[in-house]
Amino acid sequence: MSADMEGIKGTMLVLCLIGLSKANNSPSIDGVVYNVCEDTPIGASVFTIKATDAENDPLTFSLTKPNDEYFAVESSSGKVSVRRTLDREASNVMELGVIVSDISTETPGILTIILLEANDNRPIFQSSPYDIEISENTAVGTSLFRALATDADTSSGAVIQYSIDEVTPSSGSSLFRIVPTTGEVQLAGPLNYTALSTFYRLKINATDGGGRCHYDTINYFSSIAFSFITVVDVPDLDPRFIGVPYVGSVEENSPVDTNVLTVTALDQDTGVNDKIIYSIEDSTAAGLFKISETDGAISVMSDIDREAIGDTVALTVKQLNRASKLHPPGSTGS
Ligand SMILES: *[C@@H]1O[C@H](CO)[C@@H](O)[C@H](O)[C@H]1NC(C)=O
Ligand SMILES: *[C@@H]1O[C@H](CO)[C@@H](O)[C@H](O)[C@H]1NC(C)=O
Repeated sequence: MSADMEGIKGTMLVLCLIGLSKANNSPSIDGVVYNVCEDTPIGASVFTIKATDAENDPLTFSLTKPNDEYFAVESSSGKVSVRRTLDREASNVMELGVIVSDISTETPGILTIILLEANDNRPIFQSSPYDIEISENTAVGTSLFRALATDADTSSGAVIQYSIDEVTPSSGSSLFRIVPTTGEVQLAGPLNYTALSTFYRLKINATDGGGRCHYDTINYFSSIAFSFITVVDVPDLDPRFIGVPYVGSVEENSPVDTNVLTVTALDQDTGVNDKIIYSIEDSTAAGLFKISETDGAISVMSDIDREAIGDTVALTVKQLNRASKLHPPGSTGS
């Protein structure tokens, strides 16, 4: 048994001698995980590949697939630099193929590159511009729309603050406000189609929370969106008769349909709200006169008997879509 052992030992010794004289150990790659800021500019170096060789031979470094298009390596030192813009939003971990060689052997390896977040995206408004129509009687505090912006960064680089930087005309500055954290635009003061502007332009700013990685200073990104707000008239003003009081006269024996006088009212609202319908609301002698619904022309409706009704008739005239009574009566005499 001991003779056998010695025989084996002898064989091993021979192999060992060959190894010492001829064999060369391959270099080994010692570090395989590296952190890299995603905002590292092209050309800047990011890390040095850690590798050793048992014989202390000089090592040379080269890159290979995958992702060798993103980095360059200095062949004698293993110093890696950025060759193409990196983007963490595409993927936050990337692999990098590397080959480390000594005089006669080479060791392939895959490095893992962890991309660190920088603020490198600007906020983007969704569905801008924000064009809306609102009626002039919209209640103060009403939510008008949400100017939502999104940011592809994570952490503080994606936290967006909103502001209204400008209102045109500037008289509207107090009429609109934005919730800084949500971008919700609200009505902050009363509109008035007749007395104030009927059109406003808001300049809305979304600024991200900033961030830094490769650089020492924090950088922020902002975007601008516009909102065009059109104020729509609502019928909130009473029509008014012009040229009051109305006085007309008519012969007592005038035939039916004889014109007496025409009254005219104007709606102070503009746009579609100025349709006025005329009617006789009251008369001291009912049934004697009629009025044209559309043009306010008052005419004789039935035979006038002055002995029965006296010298004057008072008419109260109104417009129909509003129930307000008008200026006192025109009167007719014969
Ligand atoms: C708008 O302004 C006019 C004139 O100042 C005023 O008479 C009217 O009541 C106002 N309308 C509203 C809805 O405040
Ligand atoms: C948006 O607002 C921020 C903070 O006030 C400001 O620094 C930035 O210049 C504004 N952006 C634009 C495009 O005006």
